[in-house]
Amino acid sequence: MSQVQKYPAGWRVLHWVMALMVLILLPTGLWMAARAEADIWGDLTDTLYSWHKAIGFSVLLLMILRIVLKVRLKSPPYPEHMPRKLQLAAKSLHHLLYVLLVLTPLFGWAGVTAYPALVTVGGYDLPAMPLVPVDRELADRLFDIHGVLAISLGVLIIGHIGAAFRHMFLKDGIIRRMV
Ligand code: HEM
Repeated sequence: MSQVQKYPAGWRVLHWVMALMVLILLPTGLWMAARAEADIWGDLTDTLYSWHKAIGFSVLLLMILRIVLKVRLKSPPYPEHMPRKLQLAAKSLHHLLYVLLVLTPLFGWAGVTAYPALVTVGGYDLPAMPLVPVDRELADRLFDIHGVLAISLGVLIIGHIGAAFRHMFLKDGIIRRMV
């Protein structure tokens, strides 16, 4: 089998760290929102919110780093045997994941700025998003959009994982680029 060209080690670490963060954010987001909806407050709900905000904001910062790296680094080429249409579909899905990984935390951050509920883990406050006024109605609308974006992200991630499993079974070398 020909030598598989991998992403650089730092890039692969960033991918898996962010994957773990998003996989934590999706269920904790749903869980804490369900607790808030059921009017269940207390230490657990507060902890979920604090960590969700801290990890979510970190995802936003890491996405900036990732986009800078993506522009500077050239991705390893897909294997020649991979059909062009499939390469295009994979690239489109990855671009859409990038867009959602920026928009989802941006709307969450805008929501907590408008609410305002900026406090996170250890009592540290996130910076307020510039130009976003304090306005409860606006915050509710921003959270609604945040929720829709997060669910869409979750659906895309399921597709992304499904595609990864397919490559694993096909043993076409694609998986080894990122492990
Ligand atoms: C990739 C990053 C993020 C993901 C995947 C994510 C995911 C989610 C999910 C699935 C929900 C539940 C939505 C619902 O059921 O309505 C949620 C709610 C929430 N998220 Fe995020 N989130 C992210 C980033 C952030 C950030 C950066 C903040 C704030 C700094 C934030 C603050 C919130 C808040 C306050 C809620 C509750 C909204 C409500 O009670 O209606 N999230 N998030």
